[in-house]
Amino acid sequence: MDDLGKVNWLPPVPKRPLPKGADDQTIVITSALPRPEPHSYDMAPLVEPIHLTTSYEVATPEAFTDDLLNRGRYVYQRLWNRTTEAAELTISQLEQAAGSLLYVSGVAALSSLFVTVLKPGDHIVAHAPCYAGLHHILEHYLPRLNMTSTQVPAGSDTQAFRQACQPNTKLFMVESPCNPDTSILDIEALVKVARDLNILICLDGTFATPILQKVIPMGVDFSLHSCTKYIAGHSDVIAGCISTRTLEQYQQLKMSQFGFTGTSLGPFEAYQVHHAMRTLPIRMEKHSANALALSQALEKHPMVNWVRYPGLPSHPGHEIAKKQMKSFGGLVAFEVKGNAEGARTFVTSLKVATLTAAIGGIKTYVNNPYSFSHGPLMMNDEDRAKARVTEGLIRLSVGLENVDDLIADFNQALDLIVPCTDHTLPGHASKEFFEQGDEVKQKYQRPRGVEDDSGYITINYERYYCSAFVPHAL
Ligand SMILES: Cc1ncc(COP(=O)(O)O)c(C=O)c1O
Repeated sequence: MDDLGKVNWLPPVPKRPLPKGADDQTIVITSALPRPEPHSYDMAPLVEPIHLTTSYEVATPEAFTDDLLNRGRYVYQRLWNRTTEAAELTISQLEQAAGSLLYVSGVAALSSLFVTVLKPGDHIVAHAPCYAGLHHILEHYLPRLNMTSTQVPAGSDTQAFRQACQPNTKLFMVESPCNPDTSILDIEALVKVARDLNILICLDGTFATPILQKVIPMGVDFSLHSCTKYIAGHSDVIAGCISTRTLEQYQQLKMSQFGFTGTSLGPFEAYQVHHAMRTLPIRMEKHSANALALSQALEKHPMVNWVRYPGLPSHPGHEIAKKQMKSFGGLVAFEVKGNAEGARTFVTSLKVATLTAAIGGIKTYVNNPYSFSHGPLMMNDEDRAKARVTEGLIRLSVGLENVDDLIADFNQALDLIVPCTDHTLPGHASKEFFEQGDEVKQKYQRPRGVEDDSGYITINYERYYCSAFVPHAL
């Protein structure tokens, strides 16, 4: 920070002032207009162009230094680019932040934040479950920098955060709604704890976006998003952003992005993010309406054990979500019957929704985190169990399709998860067999399609909610 006081890195105030209290939809449309170039256009374009240049011509060496130190302006693309800056300004206005920065990915935003605001010896309190990539960073990369972390159960119990704090705790790294189970954090309560203990808070609000949840006015220091998801919204660009509560925090991150991590977003991607944001408020409204209707339908299906959507009164964080969110977004978690087989049957039988690791697009996506997003690449079995990532868990990102088509698609795929009662199949296993507890079933389980010495054969009934592990004798 020390040498930064001299530098005016504040993004310029947009040249097109908005009416006080302008709605988000007005902000995203109006602020998307290009600001006049320094040398001014005769015919101003309606869209901020993609400014492709690494550097800018300067008249004299003195002018270069003057631009860099006193105006913090166009010198080098990694420092400032008009296209990126235009998108950052829109985000900043939506967040009501001191400043916003775009990064080459959500992960780049996370790691840049850690290496900028933390020092060796510092401790983070996060929660489990969380974005599996964050878990991976906490477990594998931060310890190399002599930074440690504790993960408390995700949810609204802020006491757990307080108890996990150590004298060297410097940051609460949290999500709400949380990936993948949609847990809701009581943001204002955690801000109180953080202020009490002099700890910074970064809230990853990827699934809410600044449209549904404005966390900077609630006192959060850093509002982080993977723009790859809803903000850019069309599954065609990777980007991340951080908005800050204070100008000093913005300056600190800006200098480190320029001079250390080199993670600023290029103009093509910034253009895509900015372009997509014009429809962000209306997309979030429709994502939320579709997700609520689909969650209600899922709650009624007999092959679904439970549904967690912050907009459902059955969600443990529903009352808090109502308090801090405008509506509840497009992310839903639910568990199907039949563990891994049930999940596999379901995700491979959908016709409208797509099986993918992506989230937050205009199309409906599903994945079963146990083998996908929170699979063995990112988490070991023990951590998965602690994070309640079960075999039958489905993470659903509801798109903008007609919701009746989605409900019909989900119902037909869930209907295919049925107990195995078909007597014509070889080695018939009774309904009762499948209704036994998991422990009993596990006793019979063997790898798929393998006949072994113990007298059991595994029959892989593709469409059945449990692979049937049937004694030969049956
Ligand atoms: C909550 C959350 N934060 C951060 C990230 C990382 O973002 P990116 O994929 O843009 O690097 C993800 C990615 O899935 C995420 O779900």
